[in-house]
Amino acid sequence: MKDRIKGHWNTRSREYDKNVRQVIYFRRDKRVWQRILAGALGSEPLRVLDVGTGPGIMANMLAEMGHQVTGIDVSEGMLKRARDNSSSLHNSLEFVLGDAENLPFEGESFDAVVNRYVLWTIPDPKRALAEWRRILKPGGRMVIIDGTWYLRTADKPLRNRIWQHLSVPLIMLTERRVPRYQDMDDDLMARLWSSNARRPEADIGILEDLGFEEIDVDGEFSRRLMTNLDHLKNGHCGEYFLIRAVK
Ligand SMILES: C[S@@+](CC[C@H](N)C(=O)[O-])C[C@H]1O[C@@H](n2cnc3c(N)ncnc32)[C@H](O)[C@@H]1O
Repeated sequence: MKDRIKGHWNTRSREYDKNVRQVIYFRRDKRVWQRILAGALGSEPLRVLDVGTGPGIMANMLAEMGHQVTGIDVSEGMLKRARDNSSSLHNSLEFVLGDAENLPFEGESFDAVVNRYVLWTIPDPKRALAEWRRILKPGGRMVIIDGTWYLRTADKPLRNRIWQHLSVPLIMLTERRVPRYQDMDDDLMARLWSSNARRPEADIGILEDLGFEEIDVDGEFSRRLMTNLDHLKNGHCGEYFLIRAVK
């Protein structure tokens, strides 16, 4: 399972980077995300781990905000993009090849763990969150950013499927690309816990079981993140959410 997931992200790394990198290169997008991260982490410089860093989007953003950042990912292809992005932006941060469920770091060595769009693609979320908790210092902060948009197309309500078809010409017109709405093949998607879970409720349950405290879900997150145009283009995919918790 893990090898298939890793293979998928290695194959997709170039296209994925191209689709998401505007967040660190365009001022408007960057400002929106920096406000979100500052709200979740505060303004003190922290030692932060970006798990499943991919092309290093959150990692670069956090480094520019003054944090000491390490990004870890299981995909060599993604880490290459992350290193290219950080050198283009002249940011200094560390990238490590490794597995989110088995981190190569000492216990209680980070002030915060950030993960964006990662937990849905991890085989065992409870094991991963326990591992992320292990490397957090007491009082350290966990920030989970994810979405409900990883349902298989066939499992989405009819309204959303129609909306998806209508959004195609809009994306082609404004972004000059043909959108791709399903990240993975059906078989792999069906095996992922996130295809069959009610989120963020399931995430909260796991955090509680693991002993996290001050668990808080930002109910306005989708609205804060998406402009009206973004919503027209991508709103059919589902909702984004941000969860904060403290060790
Ligand atoms: C949708 S991408 C998100 C990338 C990045 N966090 C972002 O915000 O754009 C999911 C990432 O999780 C990584 N990933 C998946 N399973 C992993 C694992 N077990 N350990 C570490 N990284 C993993 C993938 O390689 C991929 O880079």
